[in-house]
Amino acid sequence: MLKLKDASLLKSENYIDGRWTTAATKFDVTNPANGEVIASVANGDAQDTEKAVLAAHAAFKTWRKKTAKERSAVLRKWHDLILENADDLGALMTAEQGKPLAEAVGEVKYGASFIEYYAEECKRVNGATIPTVANDRRLFTYKQAIGVVGCITPWNFPNAMITRKAGPALAAGCTVVIKPDAGTPLSALALCELAERAGIPAGVLNIVVGENSSAIGKVLTQHKDIAKFTFTGSTKVGKLLMAQCASTVKKVSLELGGNAPFIVFDDADLDSAVSHCVATKFRNCGQTCVCTNRIFVHSKVANLFTEKLKKEIAGLKVADGFEEGAVIGPMINKQAVEKMDALLADAKEKGAEVVIGGKQHELGGGFYQPTLLLNINDDMRLANEEIFGPIATVQHFETEDEVVAKANDTEYGLAAYFFTRDVGRVMRVSENLEHGIVCSNSGVFSTEVAPFGGWKQSGIGSEGGHEGIVDFYETKFHSMGGI
Ligand code: SIN
Repeated sequence: MLKLKDASLLKSENYIDGRWTTAATKFDVTNPANGEVIASVANGDAQDTEKAVLAAHAAFKTWRKKTAKERSAVLRKWHDLILENADDLGALMTAEQGKPLAEAVGEVKYGASFIEYYAEECKRVNGATIPTVANDRRLFTYKQAIGVVGCITPWNFPNAMITRKAGPALAAGCTVVIKPDAGTPLSALALCELAERAGIPAGVLNIVVGENSSAIGKVLTQHKDIAKFTFTGSTKVGKLLMAQCASTVKKVSLELGGNAPFIVFDDADLDSAVSHCVATKFRNCGQTCVCTNRIFVHSKVANLFTEKLKKEIAGLKVADGFEEGAVIGPMINKQAVEKMDALLADAKEKGAEVVIGGKQHELGGGFYQPTLLLNINDDMRLANEEIFGPIATVQHFETEDEVVAKANDTEYGLAAYFFTRDVGRVMRVSENLEHGIVCSNSGVFSTEVAPFGGWKQSGIGSEGGHEGIVDFYETKFHSMGGI
């Protein structure tokens, strides 16, 4: 039974035009650790989404007129309330998503940081004056909020992927309609409750939860009153949504899948490389788009690295996210577990060696053993696909050119990690990797102050940093005559 300090943060209705609204049917939200029903939630549909878009469109007229400083003050209150309620928001997240409580509270704080950052950044979005081409004219540009933003957010970061979109959108003067994943709506609704308490006006922030993602998604991608659409999720779904946006020429930003290489050169600090490798591979049970997906180790240090990695993996505590010391929670659902089984079966059939793990965990349900595989070849599915689970694979390499080519040999281009003490190589490899985020001698990079965005089929646009707000504005060029 989920216990919150403030029970009123457990909401079960849609939030449209400043009102909590029921729907004709409901669906259950379950805990992936034990299958228990946490809440029964309004099953919003296309009509609810349409109402939310109209409300957001009406509210845009007044929200955009507020000064950046006025919007900033409200957002700041929202940020403070999120931090004050971080324990409850973390508990809700662990219950519906499965990640360990400390990791969930960490995500809540990370999520809040986007609201704080954009509450400040919106005061610094400037236009430009352009030297004139005629003495009776003056030329300048200024920025205006783009309009209503449709957002679809994923289950793996039920809080931070909402604030990373809604924070800059609201700060810029846009209004939003958000559809969180049906697996994790409770974190989204609790955020909304706090937004209401912070004084975000009716219609400015709307949330529609529902199981019929395709119907809700169609409204968000095709409605004429939505100016910009933003999505975080798989590349496959992103392509579909992007195509749907074409009919109304919406501005689109996408945070999609990844296939992150993790390269260990022979001069690397191996202990540090191993501990960062485990952190990036097993964060959120391997279910992030920036999780290490392919580990490449120089053949001179490969055996030593693998031994150390095996030892670290063996020490990872797999448990219900509410249990003290849990590091690996359950996977999100049955399909995710089945995918791990299928990837492993394919790899074993093609010659992979299981060093540790290799099957569902004795705890049952969504729990999976943290796994390490060797003898990987390019024919295996997990050498090419985004694994999105707790399976680590190690391959060997001989030269820098060879490993950089391998790291780039993917349709994805999100995060890439490498370890070396050679400064020249740090710069060379950084420049040669075709990935939007490059991390040397560390596996940690997520922060609100820097851009997060993928190259190639990993996405369009960036979230975080100054880049994360610019897409929520249009630039207007004014040519002023009669001077
Ligand atoms: C993601 O994997 O989608 C987000 C990870 C992060 O922000 O660190």
